[in-house]
Amino acid sequence: MAAKCYLNMIPSSLLLFLSILVLVRGVSLPPRSFHVIKYGAVANGRTDSTRAFLRAWEDACAYNGRSRVTIPQGTYLLGSVSFEGPCNGSMTFLIKGTLRAPTDPGKFFTDTWIGFRYMENLTVKGGGYLDGQGAAAWEYNDCHKNPNCKPLPATLRFDFVRNSKIQYLRSINSKNSHINIFACYNMDISYIRLSAPANSPNTDGIRIGSSSRIKISRAVISTGDDCISMVSGSQNIDISDVSCGPGHGISVGSLGRSHQHEYVTGISVRNCTFIGSDNGVRIKTWAPSLYSLASNITFQDIAMISVHNPLVIDQQYCPLAQCLEGDSAVQIENVIFKNIWGISSTQVAVNLQCSGALPCKNVKIININLAYKGRGGQAKALCSHVLGSSYGKQIPAGCF
Ligand SMILES: *[C@@H]1O[C@H](CO)[C@@H](O)[C@H](O)[C@H]1NC(C)=O
Ligand SMILES: *[C@@H]1O[C@H](CO)[C@@H](O)[C@H](O)[C@H]1NC(C)=O
Ligand SMILES: *[C@@H]1O[C@H](CO)[C@@H](O)[C@H](O)[C@H]1NC(C)=O
Ligand SMILES: *[C@@H]1O[C@H](CO)[C@@H](O)[C@H](O)[C@H]1NC(C)=O
Repeated sequence: MAAKCYLNMIPSSLLLFLSILVLVRGVSLPPRSFHVIKYGAVANGRTDSTRAFLRAWEDACAYNGRSRVTIPQGTYLLGSVSFEGPCNGSMTFLIKGTLRAPTDPGKFFTDTWIGFRYMENLTVKGGGYLDGQGAAAWEYNDCHKNPNCKPLPATLRFDFVRNSKIQYLRSINSKNSHINIFACYNMDISYIRLSAPANSPNTDGIRIGSSSRIKISRAVISTGDDCISMVSGSQNIDISDVSCGPGHGISVGSLGRSHQHEYVTGISVRNCTFIGSDNGVRIKTWAPSLYSLASNITFQDIAMISVHNPLVIDQQYCPLAQCLEGDSAVQIENVIFKNIWGISSTQVAVNLQCSGALPCKNVKIININLAYKGRGGQAKALCSHVLGSSYGKQIPAGCF
C-alpha cells in the first residue's frame, strides 16, 4: 500500500519524463515473467508438468516484449518437449529448479528431451539441473552393433537458433548427448557443467553440426563420449577454458561417412585441460570416405593430465565391426598444435595418421612437452602422411 500511495504522489509529468528517459537511454524494462507454477506445474518430481511448461512458453512467446519463463526451485517431471519460435520478443528460459526426464521406456524413444527451435535472442540459464535419468535408458543403446538402433533423446537440442546464450546450467546423466547444436548461428555457451559416467554410451557433452559462430567457454565436462564434437558444417567455433575428462576428448569429426563436402573450418581450442580422458584433441575421418575438408584448426595452451592419446589425427576411423578397405578422401590442412604439455598415459603421445590418398598439409607442431612415465621408455610420436613443420620444444620429437 505504502508504495502505491507513493507512486500516486509522483506527478504524472515526472512519470512521463522517466518513461522517455527509459526509451531514449535504451534502458530496458524488466522482462515479463511467466511462472510455470501458475500454469499448473507441480514441483514434486512425479506429476508430469509438460503441458504447464508448454502453455507458459506459448504465452511468453506471444508476449510483445522481453519475456521470461520461470521455473522456480523444486523438481519437475518433464516429458519430451519442443519449445518453438519464432517469438514476438527475446526470451529467457530461467531454470532454477531440477528438471527430471522420464524413466519409462514407453516415453523416451525420441531424439529430443528438451528442444528449442526457430528462435532468436533466447537465453537458457538459471543455475538449475537437467537430470536426464540416463541409467534407465543406456541399456537400450545398441547403436554400436545395430545400424537401425532406436534414438535416445539428447537432453537439450537447439535447432535453427540464432544470437542466443546457454549459461549457468548443469546436465547430469543424459540419455544421449547432453547438448546438441544444429543449424545455429552465434551462440554463447558458458558456465555449464555436464556429467555422466565414463562408460555411458554416446553421451557427448556438446555436439555441433551445420552451425557457425559458436563460442564455448568455462565448461566442465565429464562424460562417456566426446566432451565436444564438431561434425559436418561446423565453422568458426571458439572453445576456451574447458575441462574435459573422463571423456573421449575434444574432436573434429568423424567426417566423410555419409555426405560429401562436410566442411569443418575455423576451429580454435585454447586454454583447456584434459584430465584422465581417452583422447585429448583429435581429428577423425572415416576410411574409405567421401570427399570433405577439415581446415584451419588450432589447438593451443592445453594441459594433458594422464591422457591416453593426447594428440590424435585418425583418418582410418571405423568403429564398426566390418570396415571396407581404402583411404579417407577428407583433406586435413592448416592445423596447429601449440603449447601443449603434461602427461600421456600411453607411450604414443602424438599419433598423426593421415590419409595415404590425401596427406595432411601444413600441420605445425609448436612447443609440445608430453611425458610418459610407464614402461617401455620415453614418449613417442608416430606420424604418417603428414606434411608440415615444427618449432620450439619437441617432446616427443619425430614427426618432421
Ligand atoms: C505476436 O503478437 C501478435 C499481436 O500482438 C499476435 O497476433 C501473434 O500471435 C504473436 N506471435 C506469436 C508467435 O505468438
Ligand atoms: C533480437 O535482437 C535484435 C538485436 O537486438 C533485434 O533487432 C531483433 O528484433 C530481436 N528479435 C526478437 C525476436 O526479439
Ligand atoms: C585459462 O583457464 C584458467 C582455468 O580454466 C582460467 O582461470 C584462466 O583465466 C584462463 N586464461 C586465459 C588467458 O584465458
Ligand atoms: C583458412 O585460413 C586461410 C588463411 O587465413 C584462408 O585464406 C582460408 O580461406 C581459410 N579456409 C577456409 C576453408 O575457410
